[in-house]
Amino acid sequence: MSARRVAFEVLRAVNESDAYANLLLPTSIARAGLNEQDAALATELAYGTLRRQGTYDAIIAAAANRDTSEIDPVVLDALRLGAHQILSTRIASHAAVHETVEIVRHSAGNSATGFTNAVLRRIARETPGEWLERVERAARSDDERLGLSTSHPVWILRAFRRALAAEGRGDELTDLLHADNVSPRVTLAVLPGLGERPADLAPTPYSPIGARSGGGDPHDEVAGGRIRVQDEGSQLAALALSRAEPVRPGERWLDLCAGPGGKTALLAAEALAHGATLEANELVPARAGLVRRALEGVPLPVEVSEEDGRDRAGHGEYDRILVDAPCTGLGALRRRPEARWRKQPADVPQLTALQGDLVRAGLEGLKPGGILAYVTCSPHLAETAGVLADVRREWGDRIEELDARAVLQSISRTPLDLPAPADGSGRAQLWPHRHGTDAMFISLLRRR
Ligand SMILES: C[S@@+](CC[C@H](N)C(=O)[O-])C[C@H]1O[C@@H](n2cnc3c(N)ncnc32)[C@H](O)[C@@H]1O
Repeated sequence: MSARRVAFEVLRAVNESDAYANLLLPTSIARAGLNEQDAALATELAYGTLRRQGTYDAIIAAAANRDTSEIDPVVLDALRLGAHQILSTRIASHAAVHETVEIVRHSAGNSATGFTNAVLRRIARETPGEWLERVERAARSDDERLGLSTSHPVWILRAFRRALAAEGRGDELTDLLHADNVSPRVTLAVLPGLGERPADLAPTPYSPIGARSGGGDPHDEVAGGRIRVQDEGSQLAALALSRAEPVRPGERWLDLCAGPGGKTALLAAEALAHGATLEANELVPARAGLVRRALEGVPLPVEVSEEDGRDRAGHGEYDRILVDAPCTGLGALRRRPEARWRKQPADVPQLTALQGDLVRAGLEGLKPGGILAYVTCSPHLAETAGVLADVRREWGDRIEELDARAVLQSISRTPLDLPAPADGSGRAQLWPHRHGTDAMFISLLRRR
């Protein structure tokens, strides 16, 4: 199977069956037996098309003179893939049109080939800039225009703007939106005390255990589980808890929402190095299995339970708890190309209720003096400052927020640009455009 067909099948599975491109693509590539070059092409085509789907849909609707809801979904996915090749790659337009028509012939029958051919030829007649101008002219607001040019739903870009404005950096919005459309570089975590950074891999700028992948297949570098693929922001979030203050031997730690276990493995290495113990919990059994796998490289026994985190932390038992809560994931759009179109504003209140419950349960589980790290890979203020404001209303001065930014600066290899939020709180927000990390949010709460 060709790279284009693999990309097309991934698009179909994502848009028809809610598949996740980042999970499906590697197996599809392996099944098709693509060589390295074709695998890279399939990835670029699938990721690029999914990321910019909103923009391409507007262009396809204009070129077809009909709403995309009136186009057969199979044909629409093929048109998206064709539009991506024509507008955003160096693939010759005639080849992109021809191949796409063949995909449609194969998947939807001969009857749709004429329409596909006509729409793509129309798209190929104008430059990407001309198309963008054309669809932007039809936009009803500046935000809709920005959403079209950067391929973000308006509600998401508004949430980003509010989060950036809360730290006085509203002017970085466009940089952030563009950063979301670029695949992140692969970073590795070298588990402290267990692995050593290979001499040929450069350190990452911030995480003291971070390394840049050499560019080949990172699986060659992660053998043994002591060097792991992990976003640099995730590394910093886990270290913010383990290094918030010196560890007293015998401390008990809990990772309350651990799946798939990236931060658990790092916490386990930290616990092992400092004489602490660690337990992990994950609601979804399959994900709890991934946590156990992630722990294989760390010679520390870690019990992994499969409970609802709201009932798991007990009362006054732990010195440190990580609540890396389920969230919208709006801070990791670079990695999950379809996520921006799938998430809905209605997801937010459901998640914030759960996030608040998990933080409250975690606080109950802390010993007096214990520390909880509340972490999300979303910068949405409702999921970050909003959740904490609710918790604070309830817990009042029984908790204090530590200066997470100072903790991160003390951990980081080089100074992080972390402006203080307007409310003067100690929370920290990382950003793809500014730090090259996912937009991780980190707050450290001490139970008094
Ligand atoms: C953001 S992820 C954690 C990522 C993980 N810490 C890592 O670094 O690999 C949140 C996890 O919480 C789990 N989860 C969802 N609801 C939960 C609940 N009520 N109790 C415990 N875990 C839950 C999800 O299945 C998901 O695996």
